[in-house]
Amino acid sequence: MKDSADPGPLKLVIMSDLHLVPEGEVSNTLDTAARLAAAVNSVNTDHADADLCILAGDLADLGEAEAYARLAGIIAPLGMDTHLMLGNHDDRRVFLQVFGNDHADENGHVQKVIDLKGHRIILLDSTEPGLVGGLLCAARLDWLRARLAEAVDRPVIVILHHHAMPLSMPVDEIILEGGPALLEVLKTHPDVRQVIAGHVHITTTGVWKGIPFTTLAGGHYNVSLNLPSHARAQERLEGPGQYAVVLADVDACVVHFENFLDRHPVIAAENFGRERAPRR
Ligand SMILES: [Fe+2]
Repeated sequence: MKDSADPGPLKLVIMSDLHLVPEGEVSNTLDTAARLAAAVNSVNTDHADADLCILAGDLADLGEAEAYARLAGIIAPLGMDTHLMLGNHDDRRVFLQVFGNDHADENGHVQKVIDLKGHRIILLDSTEPGLVGGLLCAARLDWLRARLAEAVDRPVIVILHHHAMPLSMPVDEIILEGGPALLEVLKTHPDVRQVIAGHVHITTTGVWKGIPFTTLAGGHYNVSLNLPSHARAQERLEGPGQYAVVLADVDACVVHFENFLDRHPVIAAENFGRERAPRR
């Protein structure tokens, strides 16, 4: 029988790749604001008991202030603490103007630790202006090493926007720079339960030299699986719209994937030709 004083497992909702645009615009044919609203509704309906919601970067498609202001309004109905992270499509300066400088640490990075239900959750800022693949500079690796050293007595879950583990897919062209250095730092901790990222717009999970890595598909378009053996080119699909649900206790850490929209039509390539480069 469950002890009534037992707080139950840690439960995290992780969304990623919202790619919000200003009112009246769409991103690659997708109404990303409506998709985020659907995700918020799904969380409130089926995961209202989650401890936290984490938005793991690419909040705005092109880093516009209007998109960030819109974000604040759409996530306001979430009935839980919500933590914002940055991706390569975001603009750190504009983000901090809209949400406040207290989102940045002493080095200006949007990252933090959360200690909850026997776990340390580390939200890592892997965004580097002008670099689609992102980067963890020496200051961020040092920060991570110190935060891990403070928590050797408990399990750790790390969340960052970029994928660090190679996936053998075209998205490896935009993989985190210096992934092996990140791996080396992670291995200084005895119990890293998961390293969870967005960025790649596809669901994957694996283990790299003993550290488990997972990506979620996120709220924007999905890419089709495209391994070197695939005869056809990679496609970009309308869905699913997906967020991750993490359940973690002393023994285990399970990552579920909630497809709040389940659409699979291919988006024609012509809808990607007018993209601007991400802002620096
Ligand atoms: Fe993205």
